[in-house]
Amino acid sequence: MAVLITGGAGYVGIHTAVALLEAGKDVVVVDDFSNSSPDSIKGAEKITGRKITVFKADVADREALEKVFAGNSIDAVVHCAGFKAVGESCAEPVKYYRNNLDTTLTLLETMKKFGVTRAVFSSSATVYGGSDKMPLDETMPTGCTNPYGWTKFMIEQIFRDAAAADKSLSVMLLRYFNPVGAHESGLIGEDPRGIPNNLMPYIALVAAGELPRLNVFGGDYPTKDGTGVRDYIHIMDLAAGHLAAVGYTEKHTGCEAVNLGTGRPYSVLEMVDAYSRASGREIPYVITDRRPGDVAECYADPSKAAKLLNWKADRGLDEMCRDSWKWICGKK
Ligand code: UD1
Repeated sequence: MAVLITGGAGYVGIHTAVALLEAGKDVVVVDDFSNSSPDSIKGAEKITGRKITVFKADVADREALEKVFAGNSIDAVVHCAGFKAVGESCAEPVKYYRNNLDTTLTLLETMKKFGVTRAVFSSSATVYGGSDKMPLDETMPTGCTNPYGWTKFMIEQIFRDAAAADKSLSVMLLRYFNPVGAHESGLIGEDPRGIPNNLMPYIALVAAGELPRLNVFGGDYPTKDGTGVRDYIHIMDLAAGHLAAVGYTEKHTGCEAVNLGTGRPYSVLEMVDAYSRASGREIPYVITDRRPGDVAECYADPSKAAKLLNWKADRGLDEMCRDSWKWICGKK
């Protein structure tokens, strides 16, 4: 029996593939490689010494997806496929709704057709919208500030409704905080196309000398040093969370939302410092205006994940920076 990972060549998908393979599971990946590279598959195979069955296809392509389900004995799905750039989602909302919802609906219909009842969904802390009560726990109100976030919100609701109607379904909605870093081997990592939007990949390119300086978006937030505060989580801890979630769906039915975060927040300037230490490079920065849509603070109460999944993040900020840097240096 195998776990199917949609978007399995992407940043979260490929690290999750490694965690699953190392736990002895077989992995099937469906990815259209529109925002990822087959190199990540090779890296994961090298790390684990195992083969991944890969299909190049769009998850919304029903015929292609049915072939994948027909030709492999899939017993659970980790659904990571989706567009994920906040700014682009504001510029092209319909494209985001079409893609992210279509892939999910086709996946759910195909799961039903082939009797697959277990799913883990790649959701985001973005579904907590602009809440200013921290830390965030899963009982807090949800709502979003951009179309990307709304697609996560809507997909959560689709899974919740599907699981309410079909009592055999077992779904975990994983709300990621800020995944960063790379596999400790440096063989796989985050590979954004163009100039990165997110903080750590941007800092990494500044440290590598490929970008001149970091723009720190806002120095006047009501936080410890005036810069934005987030809950950064090592990607291999996040991957371990997926493994635990896949295990959970084996023994339970219904639908649960769970935060994957450390509960330990850091500011932008703390990130700059830590990355500078890990890389031994200076990271020039300037404080600029706030980025529209950003909140001052966002961090998790991770206790539900500890209770339900027996999972917690183990790796600290220094490991996050060290492993990111190792990946960046290996790419050069
Ligand atoms: C962003 C998305 C969020 C998405 C998540 C995925 C926005 C507004 N939010 O979260 O919806 O789920 O990525 O990983 O895009 N920062 C800088 N300079 C930079 C980049 C970032 O100062 O060049 C700051 C930000 O203001 C923020 C922190 O670094 O305080 C983290 O930013 P980022 O990595 O983009 O993550 P989020 O905004 O938390």
